[in-house]
Amino acid sequence: MSLIGIDAVVFGVADMAEAKRFLEDWGLAQVSATADKLVYRTRDGSEVIVRPKDAADLPPAIEQGNTVREVIWGAENQQELDKSLATLKTVESFATGADGLPRVKDPNGLSLAFRVSKRTPMVIKPTQPNGPGSHQRVDERSPVYTQAHPVNIGHVVLFANDFAAMRAFYTEKLGFTISDEYPGHGVFMRCQVVGVHHNTFVLNRPGKPGINHVAFTVTDIHEVIGGGLAMSRKGWKTEIGPGRHPISSAYFWYFENPLAAPLEYYADEDFCTEAWKPQTFERKPELFAEWAVAGGIDGTTRRQAHGIDKSGRGHA
Ligand SMILES: [Fe+2]
Repeated sequence: MSLIGIDAVVFGVADMAEAKRFLEDWGLAQVSATADKLVYRTRDGSEVIVRPKDAADLPPAIEQGNTVREVIWGAENQQELDKSLATLKTVESFATGADGLPRVKDPNGLSLAFRVSKRTPMVIKPTQPNGPGSHQRVDERSPVYTQAHPVNIGHVVLFANDFAAMRAFYTEKLGFTISDEYPGHGVFMRCQVVGVHHNTFVLNRPGKPGINHVAFTVTDIHEVIGGGLAMSRKGWKTEIGPGRHPISSAYFWYFENPLAAPLEYYADEDFCTEAWKPQTFERKPELFAEWAVAGGIDGTTRRQAHGIDKSGRGHA
């Protein structure tokens, strides 16, 4: 199918001023900011839209507190969007909103909207590694970032009330491809057969639908680390990280924030084609993180902060 990724995420929050402060520090560019609506963008034009949680025109929340109220998925062009809509029109909740965007609700009740993507395709060259006899980076120093500037919104991770229904919905109605799976417990899915390892990951949590996290892609591990240290210096609290996921191979750093569940900087995930071999795994902590720093790294001392992971988010 024809969706290419996340075009925008809409959040409903209690404290707009704190949300604004976070987004500035996170390294996004302001598009507009009023008391009723913040719009920020990543480098490729993916949008973060923030509204007061009680705004009358927001789709309903699927959990208490600050959370994601809608995910807007993008298609490359109108023709590709129409292909997706042909299937989505078979979803009972399909409707066109006052803003003209077609919408459905997923089995969790989360609002999904669809549009021709506003993102600009980008080619981001990560820092090249050097190995003995294989020098990819010649006469060039490896960078130290003082601030992250996320390229896009790479994935959203959802807790499923009805796991089987969510798995079926995202594969059959949105046409996503399964990259890897914890059978009955979690499923990593990508929008396109040739694409990044996952644009969504659905975790089984009966009776408690919700958002696990939203993830922003950065250039490479150096931007994950430099960006995370900058957030730490500005006083934002690490949820867990930095660390590395063995499934998807990505480096990560998660932060608590006034928008929703943790937000993640990540880089260097697997890229898949038809030749990718999906695997099934038993769900266990060492598959969430090969390694991770609990409590984060203090941005000022640049040393490990003391802490243990108490996130309890279901895969830590
Ligand atoms: Fe993630």
